[in-house]
Amino acid sequence: MNLSSLARASSLSTSLASRTLHRSIARRPISCFYSPPSINPKTPLFLRPPIFTATLSDLQKWQNWAKTLASSVGSSFTDSDNGPDSEILHRELNWLVQDALENPNPLFHMESKFETVMKLRVDLGDLYTLWKQRIETRRPFQYVVGCEHWRDLVLSVEEGVLIPRPETELIVDLVYDVVNKNVDLMGGLWVDLGTGSGAIAIGIGRVLGDGGRVIATDLSPVAVQVASFNVKRYNLQDKISVKQGSWFDPLTEFEGRVAGLVSNPPYIPSGHISGLQAEVGRHEPILALDGGEDGMSDLLHLCNGAALMLKSGGFFAFETNGEDQCRLFVDHMESVHKNSFYDLKIVPDFAGIQRFVTGIRL
Ligand SMILES: C[S@@+](CC[C@H](N)C(=O)[O-])C[C@H]1O[C@@H](n2cnc3c(N)ncnc32)[C@H](O)[C@@H]1O
Repeated sequence: MNLSSLARASSLSTSLASRTLHRSIARRPISCFYSPPSINPKTPLFLRPPIFTATLSDLQKWQNWAKTLASSVGSSFTDSDNGPDSEILHRELNWLVQDALENPNPLFHMESKFETVMKLRVDLGDLYTLWKQRIETRRPFQYVVGCEHWRDLVLSVEEGVLIPRPETELIVDLVYDVVNKNVDLMGGLWVDLGTGSGAIAIGIGRVLGDGGRVIATDLSPVAVQVASFNVKRYNLQDKISVKQGSWFDPLTEFEGRVAGLVSNPPYIPSGHISGLQAEVGRHEPILALDGGEDGMSDLLHLCNGAALMLKSGGFFAFETNGEDQCRLFVDHMESVHKNSFYDLKIVPDFAGIQRFVTGIRL
């Protein structure tokens, strides 16, 4: 996560739908409330079978309604909490069309016959509901389509699980670099603490050698289900095991035997949570965001645990919310654990923000 992209005031525009829009959907009751986090993760929308049908004419009616709704937002979300503007929402609408239709091309070609029957991966009524959720409740687009593209992966995501962020991708690159210089680390046991969707664990699972394996842990039962689902989707269940529990609790048997430890823990200071962009603050799990008063509670806990869990020569990489946290983290390591680690480094993300702390166990 990038705090600068998260810490924004939030507000909701509640009267976006015009009467015309309501008329076009009047035959079907629309609920803008979605189900609570399931313990039954779903396949991303674009991979579901196209078992629903609708005429081209009905789909174009939906699309026109959805476009009008997106246009009505203007810059109001951006002005209130730096949320998406109409242009971004129109782009998302096109992506939704691509994901939902088996063959979206006729929608964009007016010469196609209106009575043409189109195949859909979601019921047309649900498409109305999904787009209302996106605009009226600011439900994140990734939850609407059930996935996020991250590195070369497409990860299933849903409420209850953090949507993996682009800057976190770099953790896998850092691991790639160290394992390629050290066969011991390449074939060792790696741990991803607070795995969420399983993104980092799966990324690491794919760069390790034959003998290497990963344990991914999370306190959230939804995250554990979704991460396990994603691990299975990538056929990595023999290499990655997912365990539920708080930080190091499920790992006591591996004390002093871990080759690598990585985490993107919650690090947003509690006082900043209410100012987050609506998509984040209202929909992503607080357990994944709130890092305590100064955002450092979990990071410091992980720092102490790293000294206990890593074997000599073991590597760690932790994500922080920026320069101050990186410095506090390194200060803590150098004072409290001064004889435990060496080669401590602060590593910037793609945007040049000091983001990660890495080091090696003595
Ligand atoms: C910022 S999210 C990162 C998720 C994922 N690793 C990613 O980068 O997309 C932090 C994760 O830590 C988990 N978490 C929070 N408290 C935890 C705890 N005490 N023990 C284990 N996991 C915890 C949350 O459920 C969440 O999945």
